[in-house]
Amino acid sequence: MRYLTFALGKGRLARQTLDAFEKIGITCQEMRDKNTRKLIFVNEERKMRFFLAKGPDVPTYVEYGAADIGIVGKDTILEEKRKIYEVLDLGFGACRMCVCGPKDAAKLLKHQELIRVATKYPAIAKDYFYNKKHQTVEIIKLNGSIELAPIVGLSEVIVDIVETGSTLRENGLQVLEEICPLSARMVVNQVSMKMEYERITGLIADLKRLLQEA
Ligand code: PRP
Repeated sequence: MRYLTFALGKGRLARQTLDAFEKIGITCQEMRDKNTRKLIFVNEERKMRFFLAKGPDVPTYVEYGAADIGIVGKDTILEEKRKIYEVLDLGFGACRMCVCGPKDAAKLLKHQELIRVATKYPAIAKDYFYNKKHQTVEIIKLNGSIELAPIVGLSEVIVDIVETGSTLRENGLQVLEEICPLSARMVVNQVSMKMEYERITGLIADLKRLLQEA
């Protein structure tokens, strides 16, 4: 049997993934060790390998077949537009992709004005403003702390993830429009799905059962 390789998005998503996998009998204890510098972890018994990657790189590993399976946020899937199968909504990591800004920016969205939109997700922002709202905007790519942009005058609004809403609240911003709900998803390489059909669909079935019990 060959190894089934998993790419997990680093951080909270990976921890929640390992929790879910443990509940269906797949363990990888050494991956829990916060001090380890190891990059790849093996479960010999199940012939599985796991590695941690930056979220946006997970769909890349999966598209090229360096990983058979990936666990990644829906935001990253939409942004990266890779040729992969999205097979399961894992439910955790639930949040929303939204257009946010100060309250008075709402009218700029209604009146189709030419505005600047700061975001870590230019493809999602472009799709939303150009294809859904038919509003011409200037999109400015940032890499983090997106909420700063409207406060310091870089942009009128932002497109960003809202989970609890506390970052917005603490900075005097609010949700102006909701783009789509997000959560962690399982993605699969298109060739692996055919070659390892039994093992992968078995795994999906186990996780589905777990989600139904919860
Ligand atoms: C994310 C997101 C928001 C915040 C939303 O940022 O970009 O800033 O979390 O969460 P909340 O609604 O619960 O306040 P993250 O912490 O990933 O850091 P970033 O600034 O690097 O994007």
